[in-house]
Amino acid sequence: MDNSSQLIVLLGVLLLASSLFGGCFSSLQEEGHPRIAWPSELHPEFFLPNGNLTADRNSIITYYSSHTWLPGGGGVNYYGVEATLDVYNFDLEHGQVSAAAIWIVNRGDGHPSSLSAIQFGWHIFPWLYKDSRTHFYTAWMSGGVSGKGCMNMNCPGFHKSSSSIAPGHVISPVSHVGGQKSNITMRIFKEKYSGDWHIHFGPNGDSEPVGYFPKSLIPGLIDNPVEISFGGYVAHRKPRLSPPMGSGYVAYNENSAFFGNLKLIDQDGNDYTIDKDLPYTADMKGCYNPSVIDSAQFFYGGPGCID
Ligand SMILES: *[C@@H]1O[C@H](CO)[C@@H](O)[C@H](O)[C@H]1NC(C)=O
Ligand SMILES: *[C@@H]1O[C@H](CO)[C@@H](O)[C@H](O)[C@H]1NC(C)=O
Repeated sequence: MDNSSQLIVLLGVLLLASSLFGGCFSSLQEEGHPRIAWPSELHPEFFLPNGNLTADRNSIITYYSSHTWLPGGGGVNYYGVEATLDVYNFDLEHGQVSAAAIWIVNRGDGHPSSLSAIQFGWHIFPWLYKDSRTHFYTAWMSGGVSGKGCMNMNCPGFHKSSSSIAPGHVISPVSHVGGQKSNITMRIFKEKYSGDWHIHFGPNGDSEPVGYFPKSLIPGLIDNPVEISFGGYVAHRKPRLSPPMGSGYVAYNENSAFFGNLKLIDQDGNDYTIDKDLPYTADMKGCYNPSVIDSAQFFYGGPGCID
């Protein structure tokens, strides 16, 4: 593992620890597990899909199954992405998370304190909602001296503009393997003139603007290139089992979950269909590996991992 992937593992684990252990919400901490110290103003649950990301620290384990567009390839830079993906649900418990997400990331100088990121998508996160339903969520993080960030509308940050869809809402109905299918379309882009990061979201082909992260909220994403990732992740804390990801089927199965209609968005708001494969992050155990991107689509997920 190189330094940068170790760093990201550590960061992901700290933040995950914050969420699974209860972080600053000590009343939600489960008995018998130590609380991980974390600045009280920071209570994001934030995970990064880059590097070699199976980490085991204090028995918290995270797996990713995602692709990443990396800036600096000599061509245009992109400041947004759109995808349509199917949505599932599982019965999970405290100490388990399963999600499908888009990440916008700038690593700053490489230290956790200079990391800036936006994440949104669907997830099942019983610790956060006290239910095991599938929710639409948004999250942001701005490192630096203050180290701020949070999820949904739990703190000021995301500006909601839709009266019908808000971060944290339950997504229903969801897809059933071999039966009815339900998808969502997600789009994020940096608006050229304001520099704000806008999010569109909606079910079954009807995405609509839901709000934006103001430029000033995340200074590290201003005038900087960003990494753009999309895919699934799961996390668990032993003795809970690693949960299903996607549809619960591995990629290359007829029942596996997908990200489709993938497009990158440039600084002028133009869409570019992703017509070639991109680097991917998979776990070392091969439990949830993503497929290659073909025709702007890939498959990801798995039933769980024995660890
Ligand atoms: C990830 O971990 C595997 C297994 O330990 C190793 O073979 C591989 O080189 C690592 N990749 C990176 C990018 O560190
Ligand atoms: C998403 O759902 C809509 C409505 O059911 C359907 O028309 C569309 O083909 C679906 N998209 C994908 C990529 O499956």
